[in-house]
Amino acid sequence: MKHLSPGAFVAVALAVLTAGVAVAQAPSPPASPAPAKVEAGPACADCHDEAKIFAGNPHMRAFSVAHKDASGNAVCATCHGDGTKHMEAGGDKTLIRTLHGRTGAATCATCHKQSTERSSFMTGVHASSEAVNCLSCHAIHKPDAKQANLLVSEPTQLCATCHQDAASSFRTLPYAHRLKPGALSCVSCHDPHGRAYKHAVKETRAGEPGCVSCHSQVRGPFVFPHVTGVAGDCSSCHLPHGSSYPHQLQKSTVASLCLECHSSLSSGTLGSQPPSFHNISLPRYRNCTTCHVAVHGSQRSPQLLK
Ligand code: HEC
Ligand code: HEC
Ligand code: HEC
Ligand code: HEC
Ligand code: HEC
Ligand code: HEC
Ligand code: HEC
Ligand code: HEC
Ligand code: HEC
Ligand code: HEC
Repeated sequence: MKHLSPGAFVAVALAVLTAGVAVAQAPSPPASPAPAKVEAGPACADCHDEAKIFAGNPHMRAFSVAHKDASGNAVCATCHGDGTKHMEAGGDKTLIRTLHGRTGAATCATCHKQSTERSSFMTGVHASSEAVNCLSCHAIHKPDAKQANLLVSEPTQLCATCHQDAASSFRTLPYAHRLKPGALSCVSCHDPHGRAYKHAVKETRAGEPGCVSCHSQVRGPFVFPHVTGVAGDCSSCHLPHGSSYPHQLQKSTVASLCLECHSSLSSGTLGSQPPSFHNISLPRYRNCTTCHVAVHGSQRSPQLLK
């Protein structure tokens, strides 16, 4: 099939006449009689709905600004390569760069190097395998229109398609963050392009756990820190995805949590031993945080008492 159908040309001509859109000139003029009076080469839009709805795509916007070109075909070429031969052949699939799966995703890396979180796109935890790559999460042509960033779907829903266990803890455990689209999602805490190191958890620019951007009351720096660099990070004591225990704690009681590290019983303890007046058999001493209220760090008390 060498020629474009007259119907396709009517469509282009109409688009040009009604919308006043300039259609890009393809190198080879059409051989079939064009019913419209305007001179127009074949356009991707003649045959592909993808082109008709591309105007709102960030790739189109960026391209139009850079090239002062609002037509159509040229922007497609930035990813699919030159489509002239493909059009001349009436849409021969072997004459155009198809972009599915991992090899398709490799095209993205020609322009996208680093995410706004400063992670390298191609070395991240989801970088590039057949199982998961840019196109598992981003849809250039059919994104969920309600989401920014050309996402396939709302982030939590998207992550849940592969991480069912993580996603279900939020729903099934009694003490958990309540995920809500637009307010709190998996990407509130994770950088989807981040490195496997530390489970791709977000950090602030100062290297603190990203948690403190919402929980500013536990944010340092403290004169007497307990958390960062001392008692580990937030996950030493909390289960971020949800817990069976109040305050999303790792342990059923505060005392059992503290005594994991502050105990004379086990040899490899991290922290100091509570002074001997702490009689753990008395209920009064078991709720450590009634006295050690500044459990996340203190400006005034080395014993975290205020
Ligand atoms: C004359 C109609 C026509 C025009 C014009 C046309 N195509 Fe196609 N295109 C087709 C047909 C037919 C197929 C094959 C569809 C199939 O086999 O499923 C195709 C396939 C494709 C595919 C592969 C789809 C896949 O399965 O991955 C891409 C990408 C593509 N076209 C891009 C373009 C681009 C970019 C332009 C503009 C430069 C363009 N096409 C212009 C008819 C056309
Ligand atoms: C930013 C890169 C990019 C640009 C620009 C782009 N595409 Fe695509 N296109 C893709 C990727 C990636 C796929 C494969 C999607 C997949 O497999 O999930 C694709 C798939 C397609 C398909 C096949 C759709 C299908 O359902 O299999 C067609 C047709 C197509 N593009 C046409 C176009 C046209 C026409 C333009 C210009 C208006 C264009 N593309 C611009 C990246 C791009
Ligand atoms: C030819 C260069 C180029 C290629 C190839 C390319 N992009 Fe883009 N992409 C851009 C530009 C430029 C922008 C617009 C950035 C802006 O608006 O700040 C953009 C925007 C985006 C955005 C939206 C970001 C935002 O801030 O809204 C996403 C998501 C994206 N690209 C993903 C992809 C994926 C996935 C691929 C591979 C299929 C890809 N891009 C291929 C250049 C490219
Ligand atoms: C596991 C899913 C997933 C994969 C795989 C993925 N992304 Fe993303 N991407 C997202 C999500 C979710 C966002 C929105 C992040 C947010 O809202 O904080 C995003 C945002 C973006 C943005 C805009 C914000 C920014 O940081 O620049 C670009 C560009 C982008 N992704 C490109 C890519 C490219 C290129 C690849 C492949 C190397 C890729 N993504 C792979 C899920 C993914
Ligand atoms: C298409 C499937 C897929 C999607 C969608 C997906 N992931 Fe993944 N994810 C994987 C695979 C595969 C790995 C690497 C193997 C592993 O460790 O389980 C991984 C690894 C991870 C890890 C590191 C695990 C570890 O043990 O350190 C985190 C964190 C993660 N993903 C979070 C997310 C988040 C957040 C989203 C949504 C933005 C998401 N994933 C979407 C497939 C996916
Ligand atoms: C409140 C912050 C937060 C939210 C929200 C969150 N995560 Fe996590 N996630 C973490 C932290 C912190 C870790 C590391 C835990 C550790 O160090 O033991 C982690 C670990 C993980 C891991 C690797 C370990 C494991 O449990 O398998 C995966 C996979 C993961 N998260 C996926 C998800 C998915 C999917 C979602 C959304 C349904 C999500 N996370 C939401 C903070 C969060
Ligand atoms: C050494 C253990 C430990 C570490 C590490 C820790 N927490 Fe806590 N956290 C607790 C305990 C115990 C409670 C319950 C306090 C109580 O009983 O009053 C708590 C309570 C909380 C609360 C609810 C009460 C409040 O103060 O608002 C939040 C929010 C919280 N932690 C966030 C964090 C974050 C974010 C981090 C990391 C920056 C972190 N925690 C690190 C032990 C810890
Ligand atoms: C996007 C904001 C946000 C981020 C990021 C965030 N949280 Fe939360 N967190 C909340 C909100 C809001 C609540 C209140 C409970 C709810 O409704 O989800 C909460 C509740 C908690 C609680 C229970 C407090 C109590 O009084 O019982 C703990 C503990 C906690 N978060 C720890 C963390 C840790 C650890 C991280 C980092 C891994 C983190 N949070 C990241 C918003 C956030
Ligand atoms: C993950 C281990 C860990 C957990 C759990 C933990 N701590 Fe600590 N804590 C430490 C370390 C390490 C220090 C620094 C003390 C040192 O250098 O020996 C410390 C310091 C302290 C101090 C300051 C006095 C001193 O010895 O320097 C107090 C008080 C304290 N912790 C109380 C608590 C309480 C109360 C809990 C339970 C809510 C708790 N800790 C949970 C590891 C932990
Ligand atoms: C009734 C109040 C109270 C309760 C409850 C309590 N403490 Fe203390 N704790 C103190 C006081 C007061 C000090 C400071 C003693 C000093 O300065 O000599 C202290 C000191 C400590 C120290 C610091 C020792 C050092 O070397 O400086 C640790 C560790 C400690 N407590 C752990 C715990 C743990 C773990 C629990 C819960 C099992 C707990 N405390 C419960 C009042 C309490």
